[in-house]
Amino acid sequence: MDNGRIMKELKELQDGVKKANGELVVEAKVVGDDLRHWKGKIFGPKDTCYEGGIFYVDIHIPPDYPFKPPKMKFDTKIWHPNISSQTGAICLDILKNEWTPALTIRTALISLQALLCAPEPDDPQDAEVARQYKSDRPLYELTAK
Ligand code: CO
Repeated sequence: MDNGRIMKELKELQDGVKKANGELVVEAKVVGDDLRHWKGKIFGPKDTCYEGGIFYVDIHIPPDYPFKPPKMKFDTKIWHPNISSQTGAICLDILKNEWTPALTIRTALISLQALLCAPEPDDPQDAEVARQYKSDRPLYELTAK
């Protein structure tokens, strides 16, 4: 248990992370009084089909954090090649084998926002979305919107 680190990470995220131009990227809050259960908010990146959307992410911090990655999944339905449209499960290397204790929940959330800008259809979580992304980009964007 490393509650000091978790408290510090929470403080960094409570007021939101902004770009230099003031655009909100992500924020996170604790759920109830469980310091290890958070809700993250990802703001849909400008100039993408997710712009204007707010995506809630369920975050559970395991007992062996930061040696194990936080468990994250989308609560908000989303149409994206690397996120299951059924369960919200996420395919992102740093949430799995590429996690290191030097990373934080903040960096993970920022990476997720970046993933909305740049899907990786060759490493899909949702095969149907990935197929559509590759074969019919306009329909993919329309569905995502
Ligand atoms: Co939860």
